[in-house]
Amino acid sequence: MDNPIKQKQIIIAITGASGAAYGLRLIQKLLATDVYFLHVLLSDAAKIVLKQECDLLLPESASKAASVLAEHVGHDTNKLRCYDKYDWFSPAASGSSNIQQMVVIPCSMGTLAGIANGISDQLIERAADVMIKERKQLILMPRETPLSAIHLEHMLKLSRLGVDLIPAMPGFYHRPESISELIDFMVSRVLDHLRVDNTEAKRWGE
Ligand SMILES: Cc1cc2nc3c(=O)[nH]c(=O)nc-3n(C[C@H](O)[C@H](O)[C@H](O)COP(=O)(O)O)c2cc1C
Repeated sequence: MDNPIKQKQIIIAITGASGAAYGLRLIQKLLATDVYFLHVLLSDAAKIVLKQECDLLLPESASKAASVLAEHVGHDTNKLRCYDKYDWFSPAASGSSNIQQMVVIPCSMGTLAGIANGISDQLIERAADVMIKERKQLILMPRETPLSAIHLEHMLKLSRLGVDLIPAMPGFYHRPESISELIDFMVSRVLDHLRVDNTEAKRWGE
């Protein structure tokens, strides 16, 4: 396994909102950059949605899940690690880690509520809480429709704290012809916010 200290480190969390494919595509794109070491966190509900929407059945064991996930996105496991939801020894759990960025993609309304209210009883919410308190970059891709005032208040609160909210709302002005293009549209927006070179993205006016 590569030494994570030498690489840029990022947390990618997938939760149980619809749109698990966004999370998989982001992992695939980041692994392809050869720049990042990925700390991948998966909620229990995310595993249900990954099976339902992407036919991806992940094993219970975090290390086995990492292998299956890496294989699914066409990469080897040396730049990615998965953690159990109560793994408080994970670097993601502490502000002293060298992780500077985190993306929750997609972000369920449950996880959104947990983050907005500082409830850190599982690793995803704790990791997000750490990013906020350390003033590091946290990006959420919330997905729900319609949105209630509860959801909107949580998003407003987090936006005011400097969290980037990139809702799963693809544009259609580039005339997408496939689901894959819609996924790429959203993932490109995330890559832009992470300041990752993303030359494949179709851009307005170009
Ligand atoms: C197939 C499927 C799709 C779902 N889609 C959404 C969704 O789009 N947004 C949402 O907030 N919850 C959605 N849910 C419900 C969440 O998975 C559920 O609230 C869960 O408790 C979230 O847990 P987590 O935040 O720990 O992932 C979905 C559940 C399933 C099984």
